[in-house]
Amino acid sequence: MQVKAPRGTYDLLPGQIERWQWLIAQAREVFTQYGYGEIITPIFEHAELIERGVGETTDIVSKQMYTFSDKSGRRLTLRPEWTAPVVRAYLEHNLHARPQPVKLYYIGPSFRYERPQAGRYRQFHQLGAEAIGSADPALDAEMIAMPIELYRRLGLSRFVILLNSIGCPVCRPAYRQALRAALAPHLEELCPVCRTRYDLNPLRILDCKSEKCHELSAGVPASREFLCRECADHFAQVQAILEAFGLEYRLDDRLVRGLDYYTKTVFEVTSPDLGSQSSLLGGGRYDGLVEECGGPPTPGVGFAAGMERAMSVMEEQGLNPPVKGGPDVFVVTAGGSRAGEYGVRLRGLALLNELRRAGLTAETDYMNRSLKAQLKAAGRLSSRFALIIGSEEMAKNTVQIKDMQQGTQEELPLDSDLIGWIQQRIGGSKQ
Ligand code: HAM
Repeated sequence: MQVKAPRGTYDLLPGQIERWQWLIAQAREVFTQYGYGEIITPIFEHAELIERGVGETTDIVSKQMYTFSDKSGRRLTLRPEWTAPVVRAYLEHNLHARPQPVKLYYIGPSFRYERPQAGRYRQFHQLGAEAIGSADPALDAEMIAMPIELYRRLGLSRFVILLNSIGCPVCRPAYRQALRAALAPHLEELCPVCRTRYDLNPLRILDCKSEKCHELSAGVPASREFLCRECADHFAQVQAILEAFGLEYRLDDRLVRGLDYYTKTVFEVTSPDLGSQSSLLGGGRYDGLVEECGGPPTPGVGFAAGMERAMSVMEEQGLNPPVKGGPDVFVVTAGGSRAGEYGVRLRGLALLNELRRAGLTAETDYMNRSLKAQLKAAGRLSSRFALIIGSEEMAKNTVQIKDMQQGTQEELPLDSDLIGWIQQRIGGSKQ
């Protein structure tokens, strides 16, 4: 048996998970403030939805999908991204009948069969949002401003907002033609992948990682020069809103994004603290996707941020969640579970249970440690109080309470209001 997680996956353990939970808690707070409600979609979808939604010529569909047949022969795919599933849910549940736009957020795993490397996993996690049903450029700007606000609250610095517009079905054909014309003399020099992209989707040549293709496409025209009136107006408004928000961005001619559904605005946020996988998040407008999935023409825009990437920058920049204190109480039972003394242990466990039910964080020993070692464990966990019961206390029906901060100790009757006594001393934060 392999005692190793599958390639491209990993475990998150206590010690790391606190930062993860902090990221999620802050994200939920920001999304909620911006008026987004949470959606959870299945981890697998019909393969066809992803193929049509994300696009047959994309890397995701052509080589990165975890597709399998279930026992009834359905072709299913582990979700490689959330936008197509969210659009499917929007249609399935007639969300277009609700007041528009429908604003949804999500947090959860996605799966892509990619070559694992730093910042690139096969099971990774995205947090993101989609606003469906409005073409307002204010939403494009919101999809940038919202995650930036999240990063700001986490204390992240040094990121770069990259922005472009890749037009719409009206103006993109002319741009595609211009691109093909500019690249035609070098067709044979392009990498094999880009040679097929030339026919199918020449825009993708612009973000090819091959140095040669990069060089050959250096002087080609930019998509922004070909925008129709509507796309140009839309893009000007997105920029004006970002400026009104005080967000600095960089126009990037090469930013075309690797998914087929985008129209008009596309963006990425990158960080110099990430290696070659420098993209913290990506997104854009997809005004044709709802229709592509079988619905009425409906505009949409969204983003998704890689949680592992955010974690990595947080770690690099030393950003940690506010330190949480240790348990309020550590119940020490002296005499442990040795024969004849189980009554002490039992009394201690009942007390532990009562403390927890009253909303206090309470711990005890599970290793049959000596009194001294239990007090040491309480100290190691930074417990505020140690509650000590031994056979002597049992006989007197009392308990010793040690204040671990002050080092003082008192004896209280077991039937007194112990919980009230503790709550009073740890302050008003717990009722
Ligand atoms: P994407 O650019 O494919 O876009 O992914 C968004 C983010 O997910 C990336 O910027 C990166 O941070 C993270 N990511 C992607 N693949 C991996 C991986 N293999 N390992 C770790 N992190 C990864 C989308 O998924 C679109 N659905 C975004 C969107 C939403 N567009 C409109 N709405």
